[in-house]
Amino acid sequence: MICLKNTTAIYPGSFDPVTVGHLDIIRRAASLFDNLIVVVMTNAKKAPSFTVSERVDMLKKTVADIPNVKIDSYEGLLADYAKKTKADVIIRGLRAVSDFEYEFQMALTNKKLYPDTETLFLTTSAENMYLSSSIVKQIGSMGGNIRGFVPDVIHDFIIKRLYGKDE
Ligand code: COA
Repeated sequence: MICLKNTTAIYPGSFDPVTVGHLDIIRRAASLFDNLIVVVMTNAKKAPSFTVSERVDMLKKTVADIPNVKIDSYEGLLADYAKKTKADVIIRGLRAVSDFEYEFQMALTNKKLYPDTETLFLTTSAENMYLSSSIVKQIGSMGGNIRGFVPDVIHDFIIKRLYGKDE
């Protein structure tokens, strides 16, 4: 296993909520880099269902067993956050060809704004290719079964928040 010493990687996203797909990327990135910061950010195109503090709490519970991962939040540009944290690498998970155009644009823009960082893509595991936070919210808000889509440790909280009652 490669572990890049003295490197800081950041994994940004809206994490509304964090899914097992994100967790897979977090675990794999944490094994590659010395320090990994998972940062809750704002996607201007989305209206989140969970508050920033709820998303941060869910992530903290999700990564409690991974020692080199920290959770943070930031309102502003990803390139500015990368600069502030002196991040060597920005991690992105690629799901399908449809993600590619947007990801390519983002990576190039961030490189232009902050040239000292590189964007690194990890391929999403095959079993999570179809998954998204919106799908989880849609199923959960109609009382459907989201076990296996979200980390077990936050399952009950998500159901309660989306569906308004315990399972
Ligand atoms: N497995 C399963 N699902 C995954 C996944 C994985 N490995 N990786 C991502 N997804 C899902 C997410 O849940 C999300 O679902 P949703 O659209 O239903 O919410 C979807 O794929 C898209 O995720 P992502 O591409 O990570 O977008 P995001 O909204 O989570 O994050 C930001 C985008 C926040 C990083 C971006 O908007 C940003 O950088 N904002 C800061 C402002 C800025 O700098 N803007 C200029 C950028 S050039």
